[in-house]
Amino acid sequence: MHPAPSTLLGGLTPRQFLAEYWQKKPLLVRQAIPGFSGVGGLQSLQDMLTLVCTEEAESRLVSRAKGGWQVDSGPFKPRDFKRLGDYPWTVLLQGVNLLLRDGDRLMRGFDFIPQARLDDLMVSYAVDGGGVGPHFDNYDVFLLQGIGQRRWRIGAQRDQALIAGLPLKILADFRPSREWLLNPGDMLYLPPQWAHDGGAVGECMTFSIGFRAPPAQELAEQFLMHLQDRVTLPGRYCDPDLQYQQHSAEISAAMIAQVEEMLDKIRWDRATVRDFLGCALTEPKAQVIYSMPSRPLSRKRFAERCARHGLRLDIKTQLLFAGTHFYINGETCSVGAADHKTLRQLADQRELASGARLSDAALDMMHVWYCDGFLAPL
Ligand code: SIN
Ligand code: CO
Repeated sequence: MHPAPSTLLGGLTPRQFLAEYWQKKPLLVRQAIPGFSGVGGLQSLQDMLTLVCTEEAESRLVSRAKGGWQVDSGPFKPRDFKRLGDYPWTVLLQGVNLLLRDGDRLMRGFDFIPQARLDDLMVSYAVDGGGVGPHFDNYDVFLLQGIGQRRWRIGAQRDQALIAGLPLKILADFRPSREWLLNPGDMLYLPPQWAHDGGAVGECMTFSIGFRAPPAQELAEQFLMHLQDRVTLPGRYCDPDLQYQQHSAEISAAMIAQVEEMLDKIRWDRATVRDFLGCALTEPKAQVIYSMPSRPLSRKRFAERCARHGLRLDIKTQLLFAGTHFYINGETCSVGAADHKTLRQLADQRELASGARLSDAALDMMHVWYCDGFLAPL
């Protein structure tokens, strides 16, 4: 079972944590998860190698042959790890929540922060001295220690200059002001922009629960793409009063003005932004493929199984809502008022117990989601 948020947060309630620490200052929690040594399927180098050698894994290997920095991208082959010799190295695996049910469960334990902000669970394995070097991140992170020990050094420095020409971000002048040795189950929360460096003391594994904070430019580009599929403007360019132009290559002021007037009709409101966010935040990551049931249950058998045992969202499914509007895996979905409460419960808890009240229309929709691999009866 997952510890209560107050254990994870060292005795703080989520409200206290948000008010005092979130995006403000670091928090060290000893024994945030007492007895923690990793998640099922990811507790040893062997587990890590099995995962980073699979096709769908998004992984990086950071090695320090002869004191330099080398970064390679996965998927890897077992022999890639044999040639590393005695130099320090670390391998990092992104999106563990999309690969392992226990990884998803661990990440969901941090849902005292809204799911819309949660990004993914990353796991690193390092040999003695391994790490990714002193750097800063643009997002908040909870660094939870699995097996072994890691020494974290952190600082609030303003100087974020990086060493030029390296394949990863390394601070040119790291000046740590605090340091701690983390043991299994200990956790360090870091707000964005805090300089940090974690060095493995002996072999160790660290689980990072990361959050997303998209740059305004990225949001704008995504929003414009969302809008382009939805905008419908009436009319067509016309110029019955076209005047003879001395320069035939000139784009006339009249043409520019007419097009400006047309584009001025592009409109969006808060509902457009809400739907954009709902679709964008639930959009599956590029590598996600849903596994459809090979011999799907009929609609009738599916409804019976859900009524008897309940149902659960697939670990790759994102279901979010804004008021009475629901979004699943990049799409809007329309749900009658009678099902809002149940669907909100499914979105928050990611599963429904047996006997949950669902209308026929909602069951039809969920059967389609089940056939698409978005959820399954328990
Ligand atoms: C690591 O686990 O080695 C890196 C985590 C981080 O510094 O963000
Ligand atoms: Co970092």
